[in-house]
Amino acid sequence: MSLSRHLGRTLIELLPPAVANELEATVARIFTTEEPVRNLELSGDKGPKDTPWTWLVSAYPVKTPPRQVRWAGVIVLDASDRKRSEEALRRTEKLAATGRLAASIAHEINNPLEAITNLLFLLRNFCSLQDPALNYVVMAEHEAQRIAEITQQTLRFYRQSTQPTRASMSELLGSVLSLYHGRLNTLGIHVERGFDPEMDLFCFAGELRQVFANLVGNAIDATAAGGRLVVRARRSRNWGDFGREGVRFVVADTGTGMDAKTRERIFEAFFTTKEVVGTGLGLWVSYEIIVKHHGFVRVRSRVVGSGKASGTVFAVFIPDDSGLASQPFSTIESGLHPGAGLT
Ligand SMILES: Nc1ncnc2c1ncn2[C@@H]1O[C@H](COP(=O)(O)OP(=O)(O)OP(=O)(O)O)[C@@H](O)[C@H]1O
Ligand SMILES: [Mg+2]
Repeated sequence: MSLSRHLGRTLIELLPPAVANELEATVARIFTTEEPVRNLELSGDKGPKDTPWTWLVSAYPVKTPPRQVRWAGVIVLDASDRKRSEEALRRTEKLAATGRLAASIAHEINNPLEAITNLLFLLRNFCSLQDPALNYVVMAEHEAQRIAEITQQTLRFYRQSTQPTRASMSELLGSVLSLYHGRLNTLGIHVERGFDPEMDLFCFAGELRQVFANLVGNAIDATAAGGRLVVRARRSRNWGDFGREGVRFVVADTGTGMDAKTRERIFEAFFTTKEVVGTGLGLWVSYEIIVKHHGFVRVRSRVVGSGKASGTVFAVFIPDDSGLASQPFSTIESGLHPGAGLT
């Protein structure tokens, strides 16, 4: 803020009322205690959008003969940026810790799971089982296989893939749908698949799988029994100015949809409306992965009450970019800003 905007103004004109009052009380205390105050942190909301703001205050008594405190010197620093970066760092650390925890749990589950799989194999092949016992064993094997896929997905995610490769998109999307096969079936959600079996893309396949696992998982969470889920992929050109070739993916559901307030925040780390069951990291991680691929994401959503059916459409464009391996990620343009392009 410029000097002219400060000069001749009272604290209450410059700061939010609660902060101004606290600062005034601090200065008043200095006259009685005669002790300086160092690095007092004050926070409040400021500006037309009530942005959270932080100030760092140091104040000291100025004494004149005969040793009375006559004035107080006060230094107020805007510490909002520092506070925000501290917050971002804390979130990143939380994420890393969550990741390590998930990876170690997945790893621990793998060992007993392998034993269960082997025992089921022995039961099925060497115990002359008849139906329905045989059928139960086959079902148990099927479910154990699903657990194995889930733990592998989790482990794969936290192991950074170092080199991008050309990967089949139908295999990738198919594996995501098979991961959710049980939930889709139980809820009776009708799945519409639209992808060419021949289509491939130069990408970090494990990470891209994570993106679609997140999008499909969210769609299922939002969709009531009997709803519809659409997963499509087709070759396309970039919507932006470069006309780059790539693949356009669509994950759409007939779920609850999102209101404007929710939609604005979905790409933030730890933002979730699922209370205890959601970590709020799915879309945040997905966005990072899409940016890493020089891609874009767009979201359309409608809630009940607009007179039409509710639902959400996530559209993701990933360029078929063979320069992916050679570019340092820090110089990558971030594509669409999370808040932009939402309708
Ligand atoms: N298809 C969708 N329909 C409705 N709301 C959605 C949809 N996708 C995302 N959301 C909203 O976005 C929020 C953030 O999603 P995100 O995937 O980041 O976290 P989450 O699903 O809550 O938790 P998790 O970390 O387990 O994925 C969700 O809590 C939900 O409110
Ligand atoms: Mg999610």
